[in-house]
Amino acid sequence: MRFFLMIFAWFVVGWLCLFVNRGECMIPKTLLKDIDSVNKVGPYIGVVVPNAFEMNPLLQSSSFIANQTRPYLDIFGRRFRIGILENQRVIIVMTGLSMLNAGVTTQLLLSLFNVKGVLHFGIAGNANTEFEIGDVVIPEFWAHTGLWSWQRYGQGPESELPLESNGDYTRDVGYLKFSDYNNDTTIDNLLNNVWYQPEEVFPINTTPETRQHVFWVPVDKRYFTLAKKLEGMELEECINATTCLPKSPKVARVERGVSANMFIDNGAYRTFLSSKFNVTPIDMESAAVALICYQQKTPFIAIRALSDLAGGGSSISNEASNFAPLAAQNAVATLIKFVQLLQSS
Ligand SMILES: *[C@@H]1O[C@H](CO)[C@@H](O)[C@H](O)[C@H]1NC(C)=O
Ligand SMILES: *[C@@H]1O[C@H](CO)[C@@H](O)[C@H](O)[C@H]1NC(C)=O
Ligand SMILES: *[C@@H]1O[C@H](CO)[C@@H](O)[C@H](O)[C@H]1NC(C)=O
Repeated sequence: MRFFLMIFAWFVVGWLCLFVNRGECMIPKTLLKDIDSVNKVGPYIGVVVPNAFEMNPLLQSSSFIANQTRPYLDIFGRRFRIGILENQRVIIVMTGLSMLNAGVTTQLLLSLFNVKGVLHFGIAGNANTEFEIGDVVIPEFWAHTGLWSWQRYGQGPESELPLESNGDYTRDVGYLKFSDYNNDTTIDNLLNNVWYQPEEVFPINTTPETRQHVFWVPVDKRYFTLAKKLEGMELEECINATTCLPKSPKVARVERGVSANMFIDNGAYRTFLSSKFNVTPIDMESAAVALICYQQKTPFIAIRALSDLAGGGSSISNEASNFAPLAAQNAVATLIKFVQLLQSS
């Protein structure tokens, strides 16, 4: 049914381009045809990855076979790579850094292609002291922690936020108080408080422009249940004959991960995120991918390998950059195993 809807949608888009713009279209007709022929042999699993460092181990893996007749389509500065991963038809796309790129690229993927689910993977900072560098985590919920209402000095938790009564902003999620992070916490801080805000969302099949709000976006229930079978899988622990992680890395499902347009290398903020929100991975893309999939009602899960401590200290934290390629490799290994599980479930 969805397939026929897409063909219909493409017919409509093609028609509009042809007649409204007299043959000119933002997506050239030849490309529309190519997209159409790719979609005919779908549906696909969409694989969304932030950057080349994380994507290359997947492309180089013997589990991935690029389509020989049409290995990729380049659209709006993105390369959609078409192929087969563990007998599943996949479209792999790299987003580039941070939330805007991740959101735009995921929306393009879901708008243009016949995609039945989205798998996101990469590396992340770790805010959870129960985990070590090299471990791979799969959160059940993701939130964007970069949308704030910044409260003026002199106001506090009992003061209503600007536009709160309109339903634009809320005190439901919680806040960060800057003076809690003064060395002398008895002194005030003019930066006062920032309040975390849920995202405004407009899910498909709801009345357009009727906003809903979401902070914790759940991953797909079936995917998350399936991911339990990844726990206990073996991961690589050495980068060469002499340099290994102090402990064998593990795969685990965790409660929560967060993303924002911030590279976190700050121990105090890491501690805040973990104590306030019970966060394990911290990254710059997953929640954006989650939010798009949530609105498009497309199954989604994210796999993130912990590559640094987001500013926390540890005996191996200063060696984190040595282990980042290992983390990327382990994220890919976990992704591949998950695709195998999808295939057999
Ligand atoms: C490659 O893509 C074409 C459509 O673009 C499709 O017909 C063909 O089956 C694909 N090949 C493989 C091996 O998936
Ligand atoms: C924090 O305050 C203590 C006690 O006043 C002082 O000894 C220490 O040097 C301060 N640390 C920093 C980073 O300013
Ligand atoms: C292993 O990797 C570490 C870190 O990159 C490096 O310092 C060391 O020389 C390497 N050892 C060998 C045997 O290649």
